[in-house]
Amino acid sequence: MEVTELLTLPAALTLLVFFLSLPFITKFVKTRKHPNLNLPPGNLGWPVIGETFEFLRSGYDGKPESFIRERMEKYDSRVFKTSVLGEPMVVFCGAAGNKFLFSNENKDVQVWWPTSVRKLLRSSLVTKVGYEAKTMRKLLMSFLNPEALKNYLAKMDTIACCHITTHWQGKEVVLAYPTVKQYALELACCLFASIEDPIQVSKLSPQFDEFLKGVISFPINLPGTRFHCATKATNAIREELKLIIKKRRLDLEEKRASPTQDLLSHLLVTSDGNGRFLNEMEIIDNILLLLFAGHDTSRSVITSVIQYLGQMPHVYEKVLEEQLEISKGKEAGQLLQWEDIQKMKHLWNVASEVLRLSPPVTGSYREALNNITYADYTIPKGWKLSWSTGSSHKDPTFFPDPDTFDASRFEGTGPTPFSYAPFGGGPRMCLGQEFARLEILVFMHNIVKRFKWELLIPAEKFLYDPLLKPSKGLPIRLQPQV
Ligand code: HEM
Repeated sequence: MEVTELLTLPAALTLLVFFLSLPFITKFVKTRKHPNLNLPPGNLGWPVIGETFEFLRSGYDGKPESFIRERMEKYDSRVFKTSVLGEPMVVFCGAAGNKFLFSNENKDVQVWWPTSVRKLLRSSLVTKVGYEAKTMRKLLMSFLNPEALKNYLAKMDTIACCHITTHWQGKEVVLAYPTVKQYALELACCLFASIEDPIQVSKLSPQFDEFLKGVISFPINLPGTRFHCATKATNAIREELKLIIKKRRLDLEEKRASPTQDLLSHLLVTSDGNGRFLNEMEIIDNILLLLFAGHDTSRSVITSVIQYLGQMPHVYEKVLEEQLEISKGKEAGQLLQWEDIQKMKHLWNVASEVLRLSPPVTGSYREALNNITYADYTIPKGWKLSWSTGSSHKDPTFFPDPDTFDASRFEGTGPTPFSYAPFGGGPRMCLGQEFARLEILVFMHNIVKRFKWELLIPAEKFLYDPLLKPSKGLPIRLQPQV
């Protein structure tokens, strides 16, 4: 008799789930074996599941800081233990926690991402540590630093203008979040891989959606799970990128493509300083990483800025005044110059305040390289650690009247170091900060100049899944500027 004939379907499924959960169960059992250490207070919750549901629920409610604040209050501590996404974890709170983690990279801690991220983004920067990460960051940074980005400003402005003409102009009502997604995707496809054909972009769009939905999920590869769909979508994008790379190599050899035309050319012709070039797999994984890291983050911020400006006409008017001043003296159709971007100080202060109150990313992760002593507690080597934007961005010590929108907080020297961290900090700080700044400023400049808008759901709820987004897509009624 065959083994399969001995198993009913439910029994087979139970066994499968058991085997898939084994690594998590082993980890859970190991985690509890520290009887002599003074571990931070907290609750590891149920085996495997831990406090994942409470953690996710606070995000779906749009208040991820509540998960942290409740535990800080319950344990009267700025550091506590929990277990989420199958990983026991110590959460560091507030500016002091950020400072500790950001300043100890490669000493007591190193960057760590959940298994789903590592499995989908295989050989990209996020899976590298130490020297390897340093050289890869340098290579990617040479495409993303302000000096390099100057060359892409005209392209960004052209894409924003065309996008607005096609998707916003002449419309009475626009669903802001999915429409802005189109802009972010068009921009990324064009600047990363010169994919400009709208049909090719819209073919990739649903695959990016699947990929982004599953990139932070339980890494269980069974049909129907978010992780399974993301794996399938990622493989399809990889195949598409493989074809593009093959053609680009040929075009570069035959001088039909320029070595500086986009990120892909840049990665194909640039070595890491030791004469080593990235292989095809690393190039694909890093392009996927930048799409993951840069796509939904920027569109989340742009959508939130649209909501805040819709709610506060006086803030909108001041932003408009600055943008009209920049446009004054320009001929019709003349594109933005680098100097114009430097003049958008108020708009960036507004975006920074939006990033404080509504950060698209709730935080990120590190791993303990040694037994760590922090606030009189000991955290064992190998444990996962996390910091959060929510626990410091609304701390009244650093931001008086923290729930009030006040862009002037960013005038002068700005917030106290480590209290404000929408882009993280230390040697693993976001690589795309300048890219995002440019993407947001260029888009908002163009949209504010052309339209006023009214929010059709004035107090629409925003939630984290995994990044911040409006629950109903933020419908707005457009009024063209006269
Ligand atoms: C407003 C938009 C954005 C926000 C709020 C944001 C936020 C973050 C945060 C919080 C991290 C983790 C940092 C840490 O662990 O200390 C990160 C990492 C990263 N971000 Fe961004 N990001 C944004 C846009 C972008 C863009 C546009 C790109 C690329 C074009 C990008 C590329 C990256 C990369 C590559 C990393 C990993 C860096 C490393 O591991 O060394 N990000 N980002």
